[in-house]
Amino acid sequence: MDNGPIGVFDSGIGGLTVVDALAKSLPNESILYVGDTARVPYGNKSKVRIQEFTNEITQWLIDQKSKMIVVACNTASSLALDYIKLKFDLPIIGVIEPGIHSAISITKNKQVGVLGTNATIKSDAYGEGLRAANDKISVVSQPCPLFVPLVEEGWVSGDVPTAIATTYLEPIKRSNVDTLILGCTHYPLLKSILRQILGSDVSLVDSGEATAAAVNSVLSKNNIVSNKNTGEIHCYVTDSRDSFEALAGRFVHANISTITHVDIS
Ligand code: DGL
Repeated sequence: MDNGPIGVFDSGIGGLTVVDALAKSLPNESILYVGDTARVPYGNKSKVRIQEFTNEITQWLIDQKSKMIVVACNTASSLALDYIKLKFDLPIIGVIEPGIHSAISITKNKQVGVLGTNATIKSDAYGEGLRAANDKISVVSQPCPLFVPLVEEGWVSGDVPTAIATTYLEPIKRSNVDTLILGCTHYPLLKSILRQILGSDVSLVDSGEATAAAVNSVLSKNNIVSNKNTGEIHCYVTDSRDSFEALAGRFVHANISTITHVDIS
């Protein structure tokens, strides 16, 4: 048993889509969430910078007695997961592997699309992982760099996001993919626009639920399940708390106990 919190982080509001799934499936676990809003977006930064941010936040979460770390950011999972796994001695998981498993279990025609930040798509973490899991899979990848600023602005419906999404999704629509991985934790907040453009023939994979299932098995395997009756969610942001609070209130179902500013770098 361990009643310490699960440390979770992302560059901004996006990782709360994973927190939502965690809170739903593991209601007894407490969560410490860091949104690195002072440095969002991560998706157009270099590998060295992303490793530096990931290292600093992981260290901070460990200093707050986190019992495991969930990298709720595809960009950091693609470019810095192996790096922090070598440095820190506690269970750490990212969102890429759970997303890959979920997509493999859903696709029927073995044609999988991946949307992600520039850094995630350039790393080819999804392409490599999907092909390693099944060499019959073919992958169509599409970077969508404007999605993160749209979501951070709360601009998730209307003409402008629809026009941008329509342009980004063109190669996906032209392909034959039956399964599309939302390879950035911000993107589930644009799901209704994506669904509207793609119709119902393409399954959308949001790695939140799959990641929550992976966290559950890591907790059990390491004997660090909480024995409390309720968990709390405490959020920390590296920039002003106001816009984060407004967005969290709009998009997140889970009950957030506190939102506090913190200086991590
Ligand atoms: N939500 C993150 C991801 O999953 C980061 C996006 C960004 O900051 O560019 O990739």
